Amino acid sequence: MASLAPDVAANLHTESANPHWVRLGGDHKLDHIPGEDGWPVLGTTLMQLADPLGFQKRMVDVYGPVFRTRSFGRRGVNLIGAEANELVLFDRDKLFSNEQGWGPVLNLLFPRGLMLMDFDAHRVDRRALSIAFKPEPMRAYCSVLNTGIASALSQWGGDMRFYDAIKALTLDTAASSFLGLPLGPEADRLNKAFVDMVQASVGVVRKPLPFTKMGRGVAGRRLMVEYFGRLVRERRASPGQDMFSQFALATREDGTLLPEDVVVDHMIFLMMAAHDTITSSATVLFWQLAKNPAWQERLRAEARAVTGGDALPLAYDDLGRMELTEMAFKEALRFMPPVPNMPRRALRDFRFGGYDIPAGTPIGISPAAVHADPAHWDAPHVFDPLRFTPEKVARRHKYAWVPFGGGAHMCLGLHFAYMQVKLLANHILTRFEVAMQPGAEPQWQAWPIPKPRDGLKVTLRPLQ
Ligand code: HEM
Repeated sequence: MASLAPDVAANLHTESANPHWVRLGGDHKLDHIPGEDGWPVLGTTLMQLADPLGFQKRMVDVYGPVFRTRSFGRRGVNLIGAEANELVLFDRDKLFSNEQGWGPVLNLLFPRGLMLMDFDAHRVDRRALSIAFKPEPMRAYCSVLNTGIASALSQWGGDMRFYDAIKALTLDTAASSFLGLPLGPEADRLNKAFVDMVQASVGVVRKPLPFTKMGRGVAGRRLMVEYFGRLVRERRASPGQDMFSQFALATREDGTLLPEDVVVDHMIFLMMAAHDTITSSATVLFWQLAKNPAWQERLRAEARAVTGGDALPLAYDDLGRMELTEMAFKEALRFMPPVPNMPRRALRDFRFGGYDIPAGTPIGISPAAVHADPAHWDAPHVFDPLRFTPEKVARRHKYAWVPFGGGAHMCLGLHFAYMQVKLLANHILTRFEVAMQPGAEPQWQAWPIPKPRDGLKVTLRPLQ
């Protein structure tokens, strides 16, 4: 999913704001918070977008872990650290709105997604949708993914751009596991509409004008809404083993089915939440495995031991045995979290870190900053999966590692993500040795989601 610095997100598209949203306080109400307003008009926006982590680090060094920035003409407050993550994510006092934090970025194309709902309404729908992640449906997705990955990999090998290849594979496997659609023109049409929507959600032009990303994104959404509307009725009449069928049959606490348009909105949002996050984190994992052959070999040995050989499917019941792979994936998520910042908006006045922060303030927390903080991680720039042994995890602040968020909005698909990445690791590592191409070292684009600018140039050598 797209990730933006907090106040960048909150101010990007304020005209879409619902009139019931809490009013933004005047900017002067934040005068007492240390920070910077940046350049006239642009504020700190460009600095934040160009190098979010470097910018945050400098601000923390100069102003401390509570600091003010200004983007798209409005001020916001950043709260950096494990305690800040806990306050905002756990949100014991229901102080922070997700809808008003993420809404400005995502409302145009992904309205009413679970992550954009608050409190009771959110709880009711989250409960209904969670049936799609119970063991029996997960077992069915596992089998579809095993087949889809194995078939895609039969075309892999030699010099490749890993990011591009994994993105295409993730789209194709989403069509089968999420929607129950075979590969073909239908799935291609939907994939294109979906990609147009994702690109538009972070486009600079926010009006759906012809020939703009937003124009294509809104047309993509129209196509998906229309197609998914029909699919809900079909799946209700004749359900399959895909996630869409689970959503179509999901019921609220009073036993009623979710309305058709609600199923459609949730499914479109979920596809967005799943797609770039898995693509980005799998790319970071394989980048690090290409650079760390010893770790690559350990994971390969684990996969062979668990499945009993090379290029064999990984059974759902064996996922828990891929312990080193899980630790390596957790480390990839620490190293470069796909959602480096999370926006909220304060619904009431509150106090944190010695500062009074007024209702209406755009708030941001930064998993990326905490994941790189030497207070929690020795040599944070080194890739070391052993940070995630149970003993080390038990000694660490619970909110020092939050790639999936936490509290009521904790990623609903995290077990799906672990499953898909373990399956990828098993299939790829037992077929190929993965190496960086000579001289290749990617520059990473931080925004809207971490991505290697060169696509990650690797060579995949078939194992004998
Ligand atoms: C490595 C992969 C992934 C990462 C790092 C990730 C990260 C996140 C984060 C940080 C949030 C919470 C955002 C917030 O509180 O502001 C979230 C929410 C969510 N994610 Fe994921 N995600 C991943 C994969 C997936 C997958 C595969 C799915 C679905 C199959 C999914 C579905 C969702 C949904 C539905 C929500 C909203 C939950 C709610 O608000 O109750 N995610 N994800």
